[in-house]
Amino acid sequence: MVDQRSIGVALLYLLLFMLLESTLEQQVQQRLSSRIEFTALFELRSSLGLRSRDWPRKVDPCTSWNGIRCENGSVTSINISGFRRTRVGKRNPQFAVDSLANFTRLVSFNASEFLLPGPIPDWFGQRLLTLQVLDLRSCNVSGVIPLSIGNLTNLTTLYLSDNRLTGQIPSTLGRLLSLLVLDLSKNSLTGSIPSSLVSLRNLTSLDISLNNLTGSIPPGVGSLLKLQILNLSSNRLTSSIPAQLGDLDSLVDLDLSSNGLSGSVPRDLRELRNLQTMDFGNNGLQGSLPVALFPSPSQLRIIVLRNNSFSGDLPEVLWSLPELNLLDISHNNFTGMLPNSTVNDNATAAVLNISQNKFYGGLTTVLRRFISTDLSGNYFEGRVPDYAHDNAFLSTNCLQSVSSQRTLTDCVSFYAERGLSFDNFGPPNSTEPPATESRRSNRRIIILAAVLGGAGLVVLLMLLLLVVLCFCKRSTRNHRGIDVGAVPARETSPSPVVEINFSSLGELFTYQQLLEATGDLNDANLIKHGHSGDLFKGILEGGVPVVVKRIDLQSIKKDAYLSELEFFSKVSHPRVVPLLGHCLEREHEKFLVYKYMPNGDLSSSLYRKKSSEDDSLQSLDWITRLKIATGAAESLSFLHHECTPPLVHRDVQASSILLDDKFEVRLGSLSEVVLQFFLCCMQVI
Ligand SMILES: *[C@@H]1O[C@H](CO)[C@@H](O)[C@H](O)[C@H]1NC(C)=O
Ligand SMILES: *[C@@H]1O[C@H](CO)[C@@H](O)[C@H](O)[C@H]1NC(C)=O
Ligand SMILES: *[C@@H]1O[C@H](CO)[C@@H](O)[C@H](O)[C@H]1NC(C)=O
Ligand SMILES: *[C@@H]1O[C@H](CO)[C@@H](O)[C@H](O)[C@H]1NC(C)=O
Ligand SMILES: *[C@@H]1O[C@H](CO)[C@@H](O)[C@H](O)[C@H]1NC(C)=O
Ligand SMILES: *[C@@H]1O[C@H](CO)[C@@H](O)[C@H](O)[C@H]1NC(C)=O
Ligand SMILES: *[C@@H]1O[C@H](CO)[C@@H](O)[C@H](O)[C@H]1NC(C)=O
Ligand SMILES: *[C@@H]1O[C@H](CO)[C@@H](O)[C@H](O)[C@H]1NC(C)=O
Ligand SMILES: *[C@@H]1O[C@H](CO)[C@@H](O)[C@H](O)[C@H]1NC(C)=O
Ligand SMILES: *[C@@H]1O[C@H](CO)[C@@H](O)[C@H](O)[C@H]1NC(C)=O
Ligand SMILES: *[C@@H]1O[C@H](CO)[C@@H](O)[C@H](O)[C@H]1NC(C)=O
Ligand SMILES: *[C@@H]1O[C@H](CO)[C@@H](O)[C@H](O)[C@H]1NC(C)=O
Repeated sequence: MVDQRSIGVALLYLLLFMLLESTLEQQVQQRLSSRIEFTALFELRSSLGLRSRDWPRKVDPCTSWNGIRCENGSVTSINISGFRRTRVGKRNPQFAVDSLANFTRLVSFNASEFLLPGPIPDWFGQRLLTLQVLDLRSCNVSGVIPLSIGNLTNLTTLYLSDNRLTGQIPSTLGRLLSLLVLDLSKNSLTGSIPSSLVSLRNLTSLDISLNNLTGSIPPGVGSLLKLQILNLSSNRLTSSIPAQLGDLDSLVDLDLSSNGLSGSVPRDLRELRNLQTMDFGNNGLQGSLPVALFPSPSQLRIIVLRNNSFSGDLPEVLWSLPELNLLDISHNNFTGMLPNSTVNDNATAAVLNISQNKFYGGLTTVLRRFISTDLSGNYFEGRVPDYAHDNAFLSTNCLQSVSSQRTLTDCVSFYAERGLSFDNFGPPNSTEPPATESRRSNRRIIILAAVLGGAGLVVLLMLLLLVVLCFCKRSTRNHRGIDVGAVPARETSPSPVVEINFSSLGELFTYQQLLEATGDLNDANLIKHGHSGDLFKGILEGGVPVVVKRIDLQSIKKDAYLSELEFFSKVSHPRVVPLLGHCLEREHEKFLVYKYMPNGDLSSSLYRKKSSEDDSLQSLDWITRLKIATGAAESLSFLHHECTPPLVHRDVQASSILLDDKFEVRLGSLSEVVLQFFLCCMQVI
């Protein structure tokens, strides 16, 4: 309670104090004391047709009129900017401001966007000597700029832009030594830029753009050391860019665009370390950009060089300017490739227009920093990366899979002129070989595969040998184990003996024939005691060497040879020793006749001693070993994969790999075990 009441009292005192203060101030500062100025204000009010809403009667102008500021009872500032006229005032608007002459302390007159058709009165320069600010922007002022303006030496700010001023820029403006801002833009001024302007050493902004000025840029502009804005654009200035502009240390905006400037860009401009905007567009500038034109700690945001005749490469630093917002170098003769620069994370997203130049090569990651790119009308080739697709104009290039590209002839001749090879719009969707590159790599792959394959085969051979050796040792000890798997099959299928097509089993030999061929089964002709029977070498009547297998049904189950017959009745393969015939006439002995393999079996070939007398029986060379390994692999592959049903040769031994006269592998001695398994598979299927 107490607190609230004391706060309330304090607020009351505060309010009273503020009220007192403001009235005191008004009494000191305001109240128009000059009768002359009072009358002059009302004359101005009526000559311009101002509304009583802005400048009401019966109140003090200093305190109550919009846009009037007074000091010591005198009017110092008149601001009718943006005012609207009365209906009567609108009828015949005039630059009728005669009464301004009666304000002896007027510092600022601002009538921007208030229509004042007519010329600037000549007496301005004699009577408004105290004026510091004159703003007549967009007032529809016409006529010439009076010479007397040069008398207003206290002027700091002169805006005459966006009017219909004609004639020359009076050289007397060079006497306005206090000027900070001179804006004569958007008029119809003619003649040349007066060299007297060079005296305006305190000028920070000089804008005479959008006129009809001719002649050259006075080199002395370079002495306006406080200039931050220099806009001479859209005139008809000729000459080159004076190197002295490089002295404008404070310059932020430099716009010389849309003139008839020629020559090259002076390298002195690299001294413009504060420059943010450089616009030289639409001129006749030529040559290449000096490499050091853009200083590395650069503030540049906007670079416009479009529509000139620049040539040569872009300085690479241009791509990595940290503040860059717009780079427009379109319609020139710039050339070169996009750099592979990495994108600076801090770099601002920018707009790029390099259209209608002679850039070539592939699109690179440098495009990542631009949110919009116009690359049209160049000679870029290759694929368009993802990051370049959005907001990109790509037409009239040599790019792959993009519409509206140049013709093949255009592209080829452009690249040929520069001694470069053109990618011919890339491979037509991967079928054509991408030139020699991949053909070369194909060959490389083949060689590699051959080497690896060869090595692999050698390894396979080694493994085979290892297996053979192990198995030989094991089979003597462990022979039963191998048969075990086959036993149930044998028992559960006592005689499922399938019909055997004997016509596919080769010739039917008589017992007598075979006895003759083998010398009555002479032990001298015995090759070996095989698993399923004894093998004899023989010679048939016609002199054909054969191998005869005698199967003793008293020591070997009957099914065994039937299995083998069945196998041969179904299978014939170049990797299997051919069955030439059979002889089944005897009750307890059956005979199978095979083609003779002159080089014996693998194990004997491998361990054959090198003998100098007999060349043909030398130990196997590595090429032959490789060939044998391949053959063995092929024959096993045949049994496992091509044979239906598949066979698993669980009993591969070096002795069952036979070699013909060309050392081609023939699988022989398909042992009982193998055939049992084969039968088992047959039954399962
Ligand atoms: C205003 O009047 C005061 C006192 O008369 C004087 O000190 C001051 O300089 C005057 N200001 C101007 C701008 O004339
Ligand atoms: C001038 O007057 C207009 C309209 O009253 C006002 O918006 C503007 O701020 C004034 N400018 C100055 C410099 O007093
Ligand atoms: C004149 O008034 C306008 C506002 O109506 C203002 O924007 C402009 O800055 C003023 N001119 C000067 C020189 O202060
Ligand atoms: C304003 O000045 C002009 C010329 O100096 C003069 O003829 C005129 O009488 C003056 N107006 C007033 C109200 O004093
Ligand atoms: C120009 O301004 C200076 C100081 O600001 C002042 O002393 C001088 O009287 C002014 N000139 C005119 C003609 O008012
Ligand atoms: C103003 O300038 C004009 C022409 O430049 C000149 O004739 C006149 O004497 C000057 N008046 C003053 C008061 O300086
Ligand atoms: C130019 O500006 C400097 C500092 O801003 C000032 O001291 C000097 O008087 C100015 N020159 C003119 C001619 O106004
Ligand atoms: C410049 O002058 C030409 C004729 O010399 C005229 O056609 C053109 O309108 C003028 N431009 C301006 C902005 O006054
Ligand atoms: C580019 O150079 C060619 C000749 O080299 C010329 O014909 C063409 O006009 C130039 N283009 C531009 C925009 O300067
Ligand atoms: C950019 O890199 C690619 C591939 O590494 C290369 O072909 C191209 O010549 C490089 N471009 C430049 C301008 O260094
Ligand atoms: C990016 O900006 C950060 C902080 O603004 C600064 O520390 C870093 O050095 C900048 N990196 C580059 C590459 O400019
Ligand atoms: C090639 O690929 C593009 C798209 O990648 C496809 O539009 C065009 O039809 C393809 N051309 C041929 C001949 O397959």
